[in-house]
Formats: sequence, structure tokens, C-alpha cells
Amino acid sequence: MTGTQERVIELKGLTKHFGDFHAVKDVSFSVTKGEIFGFMGHNGAGKTSTIKMLLGLSKPTAGTAEVLGHDILHESLALRQRCGFLPASYSLPKDMTPTTFLTYIASMFGRAGAPVKRKIDELLDFFGLADVKDKKLGGFSTGMAQKVGLAQALINEPEVIFLDEPTAGLDPLGRHDFLQYMKTLSTERGVTVMFSTHILTDIESICEHVAILHQGKLIADGHLNALKQQHQSANMDEMYLKLVREAMS
Ligand SMILES: Nc1ncnc2c1ncn2[C@@H]1O[C@H](COP(=O)(O)OP(=O)(O)OP(=O)(O)O)[C@@H](O)[C@H]1O
Ligand SMILES: [Mg+2]
Repeated sequence: MTGTQERVIELKGLTKHFGDFHAVKDVSFSVTKGEIFGFMGHNGAGKTSTIKMLLGLSKPTAGTAEVLGHDILHESLALRQRCGFLPASYSLPKDMTPTTFLTYIASMFGRAGAPVKRKIDELLDFFGLADVKDKKLGGFSTGMAQKVGLAQALINEPEVIFLDEPTAGLDPLGRHDFLQYMKTLSTERGVTVMFSTHILTDIESICEHVAILHQGKLIADGHLNALKQQHQSANMDEMYLKLVREAMS
């Protein structure tokens, strides 16, 4: 969070207005290399708006941010090359198959050939999609489609992964395996993961660093255990509800 560790994501007063509506209000925090950062907040808190700005997909009204040292406003193409992204609502091209779709996404990153084929096979195996790799995506269930979405977020071997509610459509086993995979990427490969979710048990199981947005404002940012202690909460649910209720009063 602070100190000498490398800051991979850094926001300074990031702000987003949609007309008169202030969706993200002067938000500042940093995430260090290899952290799994849990980004929480009620519906409409400003999580997706923040993530989109960090990827250079939406322009801030005020403030700045850097991802992997790239300015989000002026170097968004370079930063997106090094990042993976799973948006919250993600629709797949119905007539493509997992293989053709992932090959296409890899080509957008300028990647092709045997290494990409190997990567695709590795991801399809991991997500249990090897048997359906040549089936049309139009016939996939919600969870299967979500897994393809997750695979595309990992295809370019990203250094930072932004996941907007990644486990929403997954069954319990798929969710468990996915969270463990994120943990492995972080501990063994130093990948930084920022993920937003409403599933607080997911946050509790893999995140050390968490933040809560409430009506566009940052109301908590820190080490999960330190925050629980500071707010005298036994678990994530209790702490989250306490902080949000305080912010509303
Ligand atoms: N393009 C837009 N135009 C106008 N208002 C927007 C736009 N995008 C987001 N908003 C508003 O900004 C606020 C924050 O939205 P955002 O999608 O960032 O919330 P969120 O925390 O991701 O919520 P959820 O948990 O429901 O996904 C909401 O009130 C939303 O209606
Ligand atoms: Mg959202």
C-alpha cells in the first residue's frame, strides 16, 4: 500500500462527472505489485467508472492515475497492452468458438503462432473448456461464457488484471478454482489483480488489501485485517456494513 514496494496502480484525486452527477469523487489510493486488491461498494458506488478510467476507456473529469507507470490519459494504449480486463457485462460473439475467439483476442495484442496456441490450450484446460473449444459460443451457459471472458483477460499474460465482478456467474467449484488461480498468479508470477465484487467472502478469501467506495467517495483503504481490527469487526460482512452505515448516517 505504501512504503518501498513498487506502486503498480496509483490514483491521485481521480474524479468523474456525468453531467451534474458526480460518480467518482477525488479518489486516491495505490496498489503495489503482486497484490490482490478487493474493490467494494454498493451498486452505483463508482467501481466500474473507476476501473474504466484506469484502463483509459473513459476520461477523468479531474485528477490523474498511473498504471505500471503509464499515465492513463496519454499512454492508455501502452498500458492496455500490459493489462487484462474482464468487464462486468460482457457479451461474446455467438458464432465464434473459444478457440477462434481467443486466437482473435491474442491477435489484437500482436500475438500469434505456437506460443499463443499453447497459452489458449492451457487456459481452456484450466477453465474446463477443452471439450467445448470448437463449439459455438452462442450455446454457452452463463458460467461457461464467464470462463471464456476470464480466459480472454489472461491471454496476453498481463502484469495487471482488472476484473469487474469476475465470479458472478461461476458455480462454487469454478469460483474456488478461479480465486486460487488468481492467488497463484499473484504469488508465483507477481501479477497484480484489482477486482470489484459484491461477494465479500471472495474478498476475504484472497485479498489482503481492500478499499470501499461509497457514493463515489473512498471510505476505507487498507490492509483487511488492520481495517477489521480498527473497526472492531469479526469478519468482512460486519466491517463492510459498519463502514457503509456510518457513511450513510
Ligand atoms: N455513462 C454514464 N452516464 C451517466 N451516468 C453514469 C454513466 N456510467 C455510470 N453512471 C452513473 O455513475 C454511478 C456509478 O456507476 P458505476 O457503474 O461506476 O457503479 P458501480 O459501483 O460499478 O455499480 P455496480 O455495483 O452496480 O456495478 C451510477 O450512479 C451510474 O448510474
Ligand atoms: Mg459496476
